[in-house]
This record gives sequence, C-alpha cells and structure tokens, in this order.
Amino acid sequence: MRALVTGCAGFIGSRLCARLLTDGWTVLGIDSFDDNCDRSMTAGNLLSLRSDRFAFIRDDLNHADLGRVLVDRPDVIFHLAAIPGVRTSWGSTFPDYVTSNVLATQRLLHAMTSIADPPRLVNASSSSVYGLATSYPTFESMLPQPHSPYGVTKLAAEHLVSAYASNYDFNAVSLRFFTVYGPRQRPDMAVARFLSAARDDRALVVYGTGEQLRDFTFVDDVVESLLLAGCATAPVPPVMNISGRTNISVNDVIEIIRVTTQKDVLVHFVDAVVGDVPRTGGDSSLASEFLGWHPSVDIAEGIARQWRAMERR
Ligand code: NAD
Ligand code: UGA
Repeated sequence: MRALVTGCAGFIGSRLCARLLTDGWTVLGIDSFDDNCDRSMTAGNLLSLRSDRFAFIRDDLNHADLGRVLVDRPDVIFHLAAIPGVRTSWGSTFPDYVTSNVLATQRLLHAMTSIADPPRLVNASSSSVYGLATSYPTFESMLPQPHSPYGVTKLAAEHLVSAYASNYDFNAVSLRFFTVYGPRQRPDMAVARFLSAARDDRALVVYGTGEQLRDFTFVDDVVESLLLAGCATAPVPPVMNISGRTNISVNDVIEIIRVTTQKDVLVHFVDAVVGDVPRTGGDSSLASEFLGWHPSVDIAEGIARQWRAMERR
C-alpha cells in the first residue's frame, strides 16, 4: 500500500508515518516545516523515519507541484498538514491559518480531481469545531459552533472535504481528534509544557482555574484510527469523533504529572485565554461501530510514556 502523508514532520504525522512504515507501507511525506513548529523537533521527527520506503518533499501545499506529488497515485492520502494552535489563532496570525488550513486543503482536493480514480482521503479534523457545545458528550450530528478562529478553519476544511467528496465521488472521511498527547507532542501543548517545566523545576502555568475538562487522547490511538479509516473497505460516515474519553481536568492532569515525575510541582495560575473552551468531550460510538476503534491507553499510562520519551531525548 502507498500513502501520501501531509504534515509528515509534525507530531501526529510523524507517528503515523512510523507506524505505516512498520506495517510495510511505502510513504511519501510532504511538509513545509512551518514557522509555527519547533524546527529541531520536526527535523528530529523526520530523522526517525529513515527507510528506503520513505520519501520526503519539503514544500508548502499551497505552492507544491501537486500533480507531481500525486503522480504515483497513493492508495490513501492522510491529510494532517495545518497550523494547529487554538489560542494563537486570533489577530494577525489568522491569515496563516486560513492559508494552511483552508486554502491548502482546497488545493489538495482540487489536485485530486485530476486523478482518474481518486484515492481515499483521511482528513485530520478537530474537536475545536464543536466550540461551546450545548451538551456532552458531543455527537457528530450536533451543530458545530467553533469558539476560536482555528476551529472555524478546521470546520471550513471539513466542509471542503465533504463538498469535493460528494461532487467528485471521492471516498473521504474527516476524523475529529480530541487533544492528542504522547511522545513527540507539540511543545506548545499542555502535557508537553507541564512535563518540561516539571523536569526543569519551573512552575507550570495554568490558564484559568485548571478546571477545564478535556478528552485527552493518546497519539498511538489516534494513529490507529487513521489507519482504520484509511483501510476501511465498507462505507463509513463522513465525520467521526476520535476521543480518548478521559474527561479529566487540567488540574487532574497535573496530579498525574506529580505522581509520574515524583517532582514537587508548583503551579502558577494566570488568566484564561480567549478561544479556550471550558470542556471538550466526544462520543466515539460511530468510530467504534464503523472502524472498530476504541482508545486503548489510559491517561496515567500515556503521560508516563510521554515522560519516559522526554527523558530519553
Ligand atoms: P503539527 O504542527 O505537529 O504538525 C502539522 C505539520 O503540518 C507541521 O509539521 C507543519 O510544518 C505542517 N504544515 C503546516 N502547514 C503546511 C502547509 N501549508 N504545507 C505543508 N505542510 C504544512 O500538528 P499536530 O498536532 O501533529 O496536528 C496534525 C493535525 O491534526 C492538524 O491538522 C491538526 O489540526 C489536527 N489536530 C491535532 C490535534 C492535537 O491535539 N495535536 C487535535 C485535533 C486535531
Ligand atoms: C488541542 C490541540 O492543540 C489542537 O491542535 C486541537 O485541535 C485541539 O486540541 C482539539 O482537541 O481539537 P487544546 O485542547 O487547547 O488544543 O490542547 P492543549 O494545548 O494541550 O491544552 C489543554 C488545556 O490546557 C487547555 O485548556 C489550555 O488552556 C490548558 N493549558 C495549556 C494550560 O493551562 N497551560 C499551558 O501551558 C498549556
């Protein structure tokens, strides 16, 4: 099987590529090494993918010759390239979000229309499309009401995928991931920031009260969902939640970090940040029914694995 992975140097993309290579796939990855990312980290992610079945194109989806990228028709396109931060999507950075999350997605979809038998597309979407949901757990049938500009761009990308899929008869699915954590997590995200602060004996910074709830989802469970969606032979719903069903607060995560690291963790509470929702929590029954997907790593084990990976690095 051949895969094209966009955003292959990122947190989830690099874990996905590693798994695909282990499973015997041939992988073409494309990544722009976006300025938003920690270059040393993304370069390290790529180094771990050395294989004669892995090829890499360093380019932006908005400029790349996508005809050439798609010339060896992949069986599955895993579309993960995006600018992913929720809290930094306001103001002058928003055009970058639109460019990488919306325009790049449309350019990729449009390029797919010129392939005679278009490959399956698995699109990385986000719990942020739900915004301030009216009830929990959130179901895919609920009206999405993004609470951040980032969420707006991810919802726009999902709609583009659906529009192209229905007009051009693509086989496409969007998976809504819920706060993914684990080894190689982006350094701007909560667990990574908390673990590195604990390691360096710095205070952890918590936005708001720390009582906000998240359905933290372990990265390898997310990778499993991508593979299941990429290989599904029967029709699947166009949008599915991929939620770890952990439903715990940031303060609870800090307690787990205290136990895991055996450190006297100090916490500094600061104002809540605009765009941050008080709760995410998704129902994953559709992914369970149609993909046979279930989260398998609980949060204490997942944080322990992330801590061990950080110590090794
Ligand atoms: P990441 O920043 O680690 O990876 C994204 C990669 O995409 C980066 O390496 C970046 O250089 C690349 N990229 C960005 N714009 C590009 C462009 N225009 N052309 C080519 N490459 C480009 O982020 P991540 O956390 O691994 O997220 C991957 C995907 O999953 C994103 O679509 C994100 O919105 C989605 N997602 C992530 C989470 C999470 O908790 N990490 C949750 C929900 C959804
Ligand atoms: C994460 C990802 O960053 C997004 O890419 C993704 O789309 C989103 O999940 C999703 O589920 O769709 P977020 O939930 O904000 O976004 O993840 P974290 O950065 O890990 O933050 C979790 C919580 O911890 C937030 O409430 C945040 O305010 C808080 N936090 C984060 C802190 O209190 N302190 C920090 O230093 C970092």
